[in-house]
Amino acid sequence: MPAVPPPEVVRAAERTRADLQKQVRELAPPPFALLELAMGSMVTQALYAVAELRVAEALQAGPRPVAEVAAEVGADAGALERVLRLLASQGVFEGREDGRWALTPMADALRADHPATMRDLCVLMGHPTHWEDWDGFLDSVRTGEPSLPKRRGAGAFEYFMQNPEYGAVFIGGMGNMSATETDPVVAAYDFSQFGTVLDFCGANGALLAGILNSAPDTKGILSDPRVAGNGAAEFLEAQGVADRVTLADGDLFEPMPAGADAYVLKHIVHDWPEEQALQILRNVRAAVKPGGKLLLVEMVVPEKGNEPHSGKLVDLWLLLLVGGRERTRSQYAELVAKAGFRLERVVETAAAVSVVEAVAV
Ligand SMILES: C[S@@+](CC[C@H](N)C(=O)[O-])C[C@H]1O[C@@H](n2cnc3c(N)ncnc32)[C@H](O)[C@@H]1O
Repeated sequence: MPAVPPPEVVRAAERTRADLQKQVRELAPPPFALLELAMGSMVTQALYAVAELRVAEALQAGPRPVAEVAAEVGADAGALERVLRLLASQGVFEGREDGRWALTPMADALRADHPATMRDLCVLMGHPTHWEDWDGFLDSVRTGEPSLPKRRGAGAFEYFMQNPEYGAVFIGGMGNMSATETDPVVAAYDFSQFGTVLDFCGANGALLAGILNSAPDTKGILSDPRVAGNGAAEFLEAQGVADRVTLADGDLFEPMPAGADAYVLKHIVHDWPEEQALQILRNVRAAVKPGGKLLLVEMVVPEKGNEPHSGKLVDLWLLLLVGGRERTRSQYAELVAKAGFRLERVVETAAAVSVVEAVAV
């Protein structure tokens, strides 16, 4: 089992961080604190530039003068130094007394081959196409509708298919986020109670591999559209679980394989407005055995309170792109009940996602 801190320890640390962050903001005059927040987009662009240029890789072997790094990565030395100066003020990179620049633990996580890399996420967050998409945000706030389909003339998923280069950037960024979730989910929830787990639209099978490695007697089914060609077979083989997995082509809006003991849907329901989210859950209900489990792995937003939560950020992105949303526990209880399930419990994990466990009634 991977070494993951208990969720209650993580929550306590998060509360402390939130309190300190609030105090730091309250120590500044309110207009200044606001200015810092509003200018955060410049930090995003600085991270994008160093991630795209692979500056962290150039510093991996040790501190170096900026001129050397700039020559290697193809940047202007003066401009790159200004970028590093801003990022170092946020704890990403460190300027040394002797004028050289060094990695900090945060800067190290910008390396593509760091075990918990956030490089592709930083590339996505600063990518020109991503910024164009956010042009429509005010429209989304005014109308409550996703603005991306209006701007692109296609839904987000079709748009990614039509623009495979940007689609790959998006999937890469999402992959960085997803990779932080598998170990905490399998540490928090006991999947060994099930004979067969179906990961519905589980992409390349990262979560399913983690589940099966935590439950040696459990079998898996991985569905996704064109799953045979998406690299899942090779990935599951490399994870040593391929002999326990059946691959099944499966679209969200089509019937899914019947008879599994648990149906896992990670970051699926949040992508869709109420009507389609319900349609997906009703498809699960039609396939699940009596007493079978529905397990939604999602960021469950607190019912109330002013604390920071990753779900509160991602929720706005969903509003903009697809008209989906991050939901609270009571919103999930209501949604799953309409599809013929009863919400049993919400299991917190050490990551921002929880496991919403519901049983077919
Ligand atoms: C947001 S991703 C989530 C993937 C995976 N569960 C995870 O957490 O990394 C949505 C998945 O749904 C699949 N999918 C199936 N049918 C779809 C449809 N009609 N529209 C969009 N995505 C669909 C995509 O291929 C993709 O793997």
